[in-house]
Amino acid sequence: MFSMIAAIGKNRELGKNGGLIWQLPSDLKFFKEQTTGKKVFMGKRTFESLPRKLPNREHFVLTDEEMDSEGINLVWDLDKFVKEHLNSEEEIFVIGGGMVYKQMLPYAKRLVLTEINAECPDADTYFPEFNKQDFDRKVLGSNSDNGISFEHVEYVRK
Ligand SMILES: NC(=O)c1ccc[n+]([C@@H]2O[C@H](COP(=O)([O-])OP(=O)(O)OC[C@H]3O[C@@H](n4cnc5c(N)ncnc54)[C@H](OP(=O)(O)O)[C@@H]3O)[C@@H](O)[C@H]2O)c1
Repeated sequence: MFSMIAAIGKNRELGKNGGLIWQLPSDLKFFKEQTTGKKVFMGKRTFESLPRKLPNREHFVLTDEEMDSEGINLVWDLDKFVKEHLNSEEEIFVIGGGMVYKQMLPYAKRLVLTEINAECPDADTYFPEFNKQDFDRKVLGSNSDNGISFEHVEYVRK
């Protein structure tokens, strides 16, 4: 099964200039708690934005191209990857970015979103719109970093 995890602004802002918009150490800690020990699936641009491979997580990176695949699994065929994992009991976390969230949204059973109480007019990457009525919403907690408040919210598909 697929879950998605993302940190989004009020207008679903995700990123800017290839990186994150807000620096929220408590949210990075939350991301680590949620994803450690799991498989993580991402687009090549998100992989390239990481300072290093995420420890204790098996990486799957979606690309159309050949690239250095040391320590990671390359995925060239999204449909095949979805078919192989959609009905597995194991949870695979889709960790971005915008292109990959959009393509994977129909298959996601659970969304774990950090809803940030801030806006970024010059964002260039957005989380896809989704119908909240298709999901049960549960607030897992709230926090703030550097004066920016946010909530961790879980959406489970009905
Ligand atoms: N706020 C958050 O929670 C969060 C999380 C993750 C990322 N981000 C941000 O999001 C931005 C990156 O997102 P993005 O949308 O630009 O890129 P992305 O989704 O990370 O990666 C896009 C790349 O994935 C590959 N790809 C996508 N769909 C494919 C398909 N169907 N088949 C084969 N390859 C495919 C392509 O790689 P090739 O060009 O190699 O073919 C494409 O260029 C960054 O700013 C990052 O910081 C934010």
